[in-house]
Amino acid sequence: MGQAAIIDGKGFAEGLRARVADCAAAFTHKAGRKAGLAVVLVGEDPASQVYVRSKGKQTVACGMASFEHTLPADADEAQLLGVVDRLNRDPAVDGILVQLPLPAHMDEQKVIAAINPDKDVDGFHVVNVGRLATGLPGFVPCTPLGCIMLLQHTLGSLAGLNAVVIGRSNIVGKPMAQLLLAQSCTVTIAHSRTRDLSEVVRRADIVVAAVGRPDMVKADWLKPGATVIDVGINRVPGAEAGKTRLVGDVDFASASTVAGAITPVPGGVGPMTIAVLLRNTIVAAHRNAGLAFDESAL
Ligand code: GUN
Repeated sequence: MGQAAIIDGKGFAEGLRARVADCAAAFTHKAGRKAGLAVVLVGEDPASQVYVRSKGKQTVACGMASFEHTLPADADEAQLLGVVDRLNRDPAVDGILVQLPLPAHMDEQKVIAAINPDKDVDGFHVVNVGRLATGLPGFVPCTPLGCIMLLQHTLGSLAGLNAVVIGRSNIVGKPMAQLLLAQSCTVTIAHSRTRDLSEVVRRADIVVAAVGRPDMVKADWLKPGATVIDVGINRVPGAEAGKTRLVGDVDFASASTVAGAITPVPGGVGPMTIAVLLRNTIVAAHRNAGLAFDESAL
C-alpha cells in the first residue's frame, strides 16, 4: 500500500497570512488607517480565551488593528447587542466576530442577526448564508473556506469529482457542501442518520470529515487515492497518564496508507481557520472602504 501525501495546512496558512500582511500594508497606505477586526468574548471558557488571544495576536502580526471586547458570563443579551451595535457603527472596525458558543441564556441566532452582514467575517449571518447559496459575493465561514483552498491547492480543478461531507453543521458541513457544489463537485452530505455510511464514503474522491468523533473514518471506508480533509479536533486520553492528545475524525495512521492526500491533526485544517479569518477581514476592509482589490490573488 502507498503512503498519502500530507497536506500541509500549517505551511499553507503561513503563506496566506504573509499575503494578507502584504495586502494589509497596502490597505493602510491607501486608506490612511489600518484594517480592523473586533472580537467579542462573553464569559471565561478557557478554549475560547485561547482562540481569542491567538486571533488578536495574529491580527496584529498581519498589520491590522485588533479590538477585543470581553463581557462577563452573566452579562445580559441586551449588553452584548449594545456592543455589536457600536461595532457596526464604528468606521475603524471592518470585521466583527462574536466568539461562539455564547452562554445558554443568550440567543446565538439573534446576536448573529444583529451583526452588519458586510462586517460578518465569520459568514454566519443569514444574508451571507444566502449569498453563498446563490453565488453572490459575501463572506464564507472560515473553516470550510480554508478546506476548499487546501483542496484546490492539492487537486487543481475539482470539477466532476464526487465529494462526501460528513457532518451537517451550519458552521462547517452545510457551507462546505455549497463551496464544493460551486466548484462543480457532485456533493453528498452524510450525517448521523445516514445509512451505510462507509459505503457512501467509499464512493468519494474527496472526503471532508466534520463530525467531532475521534478516529471515526477508517482506512477501509476510503476509495484508494481519495483526498481526505479532516476537520475534527478531538481531545482524547494520551499514552501518559493525565495527558491528552489531539486526534481528528479520521483514523490517520490507517487512512494515510489508502488516501492519495490527507490533512494531519494537528497541522492540517486547524491553522487555516484564523488565517482565513484574516483574509476575510482584509477583504471586508477593501469593500467597506470602496477600494478596488483582487480578492482571488489571496
Ligand atoms: N468558535 C469556534 N470556532 C469559531 C468560529 O470560527 N467563529 C466563531 N465566532 N466562534 C467560534
